[in-house]
Amino acid sequence: MDILLTTMVGLEDVVLNELENDFGLRGEKLRNGRVVVKGDPEDVVRLSYSGRTFERVMVLLAVEEGVEKLDDVYRAVFSAPLGEYFCPDLTFACRSDRMGEHPFTSLDIERTAGQAVVDHFMNATGKRIKANLEDPDVIVRADLDGDVLYIALDATGYNAMHKRGYRVYDHPASLNTTLASALIRVGKWSEEKKLLDPFAGGGTIPIEAALYARKVPWFRYRSFLFERSGIIDAEVVRNVKEELLSEVRDTRIRATGVEKYGKHVAGARKNAESAGVEDTVTFKVGDASKIDVDADIIVTNPPYGQRIARPKVVSELYYKFAESAAERNIPKITTVTSRWKWMEDALQQAGYKIKKNFFVLYGKLHTRVIVAVLG
Ligand SMILES: C[S@@+](CC[C@H](N)C(=O)[O-])C[C@H]1O[C@@H](n2cnc3c(N)ncnc32)[C@H](O)[C@@H]1O
Repeated sequence: MDILLTTMVGLEDVVLNELENDFGLRGEKLRNGRVVVKGDPEDVVRLSYSGRTFERVMVLLAVEEGVEKLDDVYRAVFSAPLGEYFCPDLTFACRSDRMGEHPFTSLDIERTAGQAVVDHFMNATGKRIKANLEDPDVIVRADLDGDVLYIALDATGYNAMHKRGYRVYDHPASLNTTLASALIRVGKWSEEKKLLDPFAGGGTIPIEAALYARKVPWFRYRSFLFERSGIIDAEVVRNVKEELLSEVRDTRIRATGVEKYGKHVAGARKNAESAGVEDTVTFKVGDASKIDVDADIIVTNPPYGQRIARPKVVSELYYKFAESAAERNIPKITTVTSRWKWMEDALQQAGYKIKKNFFVLYGKLHTRVIVAVLG
C-alpha cells in the first residue's frame, strides 16, 4: 500500500532520512510537506508509533490531478477504493486541508467528499454509512493542494503526531515536538554526544532526544485512530506493539536544558517526568549568554522576538549567546528561528561557519533551520 506522511513544508528531506535510517524504507517527496512510501499494514503501525519527524500517517487511496471544481472532488472520492479498508457499519468524517486559490472552502470540500463517501457505500453495498463529525471511527482526508487532490484514510486521528501526549506543562512558546526531533536529526546528534539546549523553556528538545535514544513508542502516552477504526487488523497492531516494546532501551544520555525562568525549569522537569526520562535529562536555571555547561552540540529554539521578547533584545541575545558558545568551545549549533539573518550574523561573528540553512514553514511563520560549526 501507499503510505502518505505529512510534515511541515521544508522538513520533507528530514522525513526521508528518518524513513531510510530508522525504518529501512525509501520514501519519495510529493509537494508541500508530503512524503509517500510503499509499505504494509505493519509499517502504518510502526510509523505511527515510532515516527518522530512527521505529523500524520495515512493510507493513500488516490491522487487526482486537475481538480478545479467540487464535482471533480465528488467524482474522485466516489471512485476511491474506500471499501477495501472499512465497511459502512463504522462512522466516518471527511476532513480537508486546502493550499492555493479555489472558488470554494475546505468546508465545501468536506461536505462534498462526505456525500461522495455516503453514495459510494450506498452504491456498493446498499447500506447508508453514518457520518459522525465529532468522534468518527474513520477519517477520510481529501486534501487539495493547487489542483491535486490527495484522498487518504487518516491513521493518526484528531491529534497530529506532534501531540505526543507526555506534555503536562505547556510553555507559552513551546516548540512543536516534530520540529524538535527534526533539529536533533539535522544536527546529527547521537546518544554519546553531550547535548545542550540553552533556551530550554518547557524542555522539549532534551526530552525528545532522550525518547529517541531510548526508542520509546508513542502508544505509551496516546492513542491513534487506526486502533479503533479497524483499518488495520488488531493482531498486526498487537504484534508491532510487542516488537517495539522489546526494542525500548534504558540508554542514559547527557542532555541539559538551561532556562532563564524557574517556572519553566520546573515545568520542563514535570514534562520529563511525565515522559519517563527525568533520570537522564537535567534542567537548570541559567543564562544562554553566559553558558557554563560543556557540550558537543547545542540544539536550540531561541526566542524569536515575535511572541515574547522584543526584537532588539533578541538580536543582542543572539550575539551574546553565539559568543558564549564559541568561548565555551562548543563545536556545533543547530537552531531554528524566524530571525535567521541575525542568527547567521551572530554565529559567523563568533567564529562559526554556516553548514546548512533551509526554510521551514512553522505554522504560519517562515523560519529557517541553521546548522553551524566552529572554525
Ligand atoms: C522559544 S522558547 C523555548 C521553548 C522550548 N523549546 C520549549 O519547547 O518549551 C525560548 C526560551 O528561552 C528563554 N530565555 C530567554 N532569554 C534567555 C536567556 N538569556 N537565557 C536562558 N533562557 C532564556 C525564555 O524564557 C524561553 O523559555
